[in-house]
Amino acid sequence: MAKISKEKRKAITILLAAVMLVAAVVLFVSRGQEQGEENIQGTTETALATPAVRSSGQEAEGDSAALSSEPPKNTPTSSAPPAEPSVQQDIPALAESLADYFPIGAAIEPAQTGGLKAELLKKHVNMLVAENVMKPDAIQPSEGVFKWEHADRIVSFAKENGMTLRFHTLVWHSQVGAWFFKDAEGKPMMDETDPDKRERNKELLLKRLDAHVRAIVERYKDDIRDWDVVNEVIEPGDPDGMRASEWYKISGTDFIATAFRAAREAGGPNIRLYINDYGTDNPVKRDRLYELVKELLEQGVPIDGVGHQTHIDVYGPTVASIIASMVKFAELGLDNQVTELDMSLYRWNDRSDYGDQIPDNMLEQQADRYGELFHAFKAHKDILSAVVLWGISDDHTWLNGFPVTRTNAPLLFDRQYQAKSAFWAVVDPARRGSVQTTAP
Ligand code: GLA
Repeated sequence: MAKISKEKRKAITILLAAVMLVAAVVLFVSRGQEQGEENIQGTTETALATPAVRSSGQEAEGDSAALSSEPPKNTPTSSAPPAEPSVQQDIPALAESLADYFPIGAAIEPAQTGGLKAELLKKHVNMLVAENVMKPDAIQPSEGVFKWEHADRIVSFAKENGMTLRFHTLVWHSQVGAWFFKDAEGKPMMDETDPDKRERNKELLLKRLDAHVRAIVERYKDDIRDWDVVNEVIEPGDPDGMRASEWYKISGTDFIATAFRAAREAGGPNIRLYINDYGTDNPVKRDRLYELVKELLEQGVPIDGVGHQTHIDVYGPTVASIIASMVKFAELGLDNQVTELDMSLYRWNDRSDYGDQIPDNMLEQQADRYGELFHAFKAHKDILSAVVLWGISDDHTWLNGFPVTRTNAPLLFDRQYQAKSAFWAVVDPARRGSVQTTAP
């Protein structure tokens, strides 16, 4: 056996150590790569999951919450992601099924004039109302500065699709620019104690109101027939039953008379002018409203009808009390419109949240009540000239954020725009509980 020199042994040891080192480095790098791939895959899954969580259609409507990586708080986060929204073409159109009775409408935001929400509206309604963009602060945010763009967009969409419009609202105590109530020096009119100055402030307020009403009515009088002139002026809890708003505290009921007169003068005899309020079924509130309207009519104020908001819930009020109020105003020679219909799943003072577990029996109870309500509406079509829902599908409703952020479902279509049991109760009760996506 050949003897290995000391130098050769040393060289072999170094070589072996180098080979082991290379092997270790290769192993380390390849483990690292696998780890990296896992991370990338994880990120991809998260990214794919996000649109599924957002599939309520809010993104298309420009809802900023839908653009964040967190799911909107009021979106059910069930483990099975909800189906994407789609418009069922093989079901009857709501407006056609009610064609012999009254137009049926929905509240809309400008962003909903495109995309799937627009398709849903075009299929089912023949009347629209702006959910926000025709309110005082949206149209005249500061004195003499009129913003027409958003309101115009809704008017154009309605005209292009053969829909009529309601105007909401010329006057309201909420969503109104503070500038209306500042005196000539920019101080709050409410703080004024000098009677002469108070009188001048009242004149200034009514002059501003007159200008606001005329500018808007002149612009839209040929496009919009039905107008909410004043909104929510009755409040039984306030002194003498009139809402103690800045309008009322500064001008008494003169702001109401001024707004109706200006609207009539600017719009002529063909537009119809409404006084709009919620809770008009409540006998105390109804009677105070009746008394006010009667008084104004006697003074020659041109009021054509009462708008009944009809924000109700599955528990109340009774359908009979809603109809009784319409009958009472009809006896005064007035028209009635249901202007903001929706039906919460919760009692008005309940702050709980079903989350993604809305019980089926609640949706059925809602359907029963929607059925009963529309049955009564149809039977009273001679005193009721329009029914407008405050939205069209449950993904977009103020009731997902009021009185607390939670999951509510007050409308006829669900978050994926599918017809709910309530839709069928209104359109074709025989099809409630059937497979609702197949053709009849
Ligand atoms: C009231 C107003 C509407 C709307 C709803 C809630 O009913 O009349 O314009 O703001 O509240 O969103």
